[in-house]
Amino acid sequence: MPTILISGANRGLGLEFTRQYLADHWTVIATARDLATAADLRALSGEYPATLRLAELDVASPEAIAGLGRDLAGTALDIVLHNAGVLTRRGFGGSSWQDWEPHLRVNAYAPLCLAEALLSNLARGHDPKFVNLSSVLASIASNSSGGLYAYRASKAAANAVLKSLAIDFAPHGITVLALHPGWVRTRMGGPEASLDAPTSVRGMRAVIAAAGRADTGTFRQWDGASLPW
Ligand SMILES: NC(=O)c1ccc[n+]([C@@H]2O[C@H](COP(=O)([O-])OP(=O)(O)OC[C@H]3O[C@@H](n4cnc5c(N)ncnc54)[C@H](OP(=O)(O)O)[C@@H]3O)[C@@H](O)[C@H]2O)c1
Repeated sequence: MPTILISGANRGLGLEFTRQYLADHWTVIATARDLATAADLRALSGEYPATLRLAELDVASPEAIAGLGRDLAGTALDIVLHNAGVLTRRGFGGSSWQDWEPHLRVNAYAPLCLAEALLSNLARGHDPKFVNLSSVLASIASNSSGGLYAYRASKAAANAVLKSLAIDFAPHGITVLALHPGWVRTRMGGPEASLDAPTSVRGMRAVIAAAGRADTGTFRQWDGASLPW
């Protein structure tokens, strides 16, 4: 049975990925920063006691990520999905380091920390993949609306991290993808977004499943279309 590890799995897209992979008979290691308040995940673990494993993980803490790596020593992972993300809507003139720091920690540095902590687990996996939930807002080439400085910059930094990981992970046979989920109705996407979470996640799961070694280091959206960097 294949195994996936998902960060930020307590709500939004992370929770939907957890539901869909469980329904598809995967083993899911679902992580969330506060399991005490993760009611939906705890309800799912009642439904899937044998295949859902919960772990508390604040991805803003590199030490916590390293600890997770130690806890999982020897466990094969077929997919590591960094889904956790933060966005605050501050435009020009509204920036502060206090606002930038969590964006950089969670959106850009955490995926690198996860990759470093879980490389040996992925190396034991079957057709292993490391996937980061990016955003079209990371694209410098297609930025036509401006604003969202910290979010755009942190996701663009994450894309740069992913590109280097694709090169560093190639000798280990690990495929690396940056995926844009579309504009999705979650707490982050808001009620006006064009896609529902099940549709977005179904699309992304198909893209992940179809991705081969030739696709490593690419930036794609939920329906498989390529995005400009
Ligand atoms: N929705 C969209 O339209 C859209 C578009 C493009 C990209 N994305 C990306 O897709 C991913 C998922 O977004 P979403 O729409 O599902 O957002 P969401 O509903 O706001 O959920 C964000 C998730 O990230 C978790 N998280 C934030 N900081 C964390 C931390 N320090 N440690 C652990 N978990 C943390 C949250 O946990 P808590 O509940 O503990 O806060 C929550 O589970 C993000 O990376 C986002 O940037 C979304």
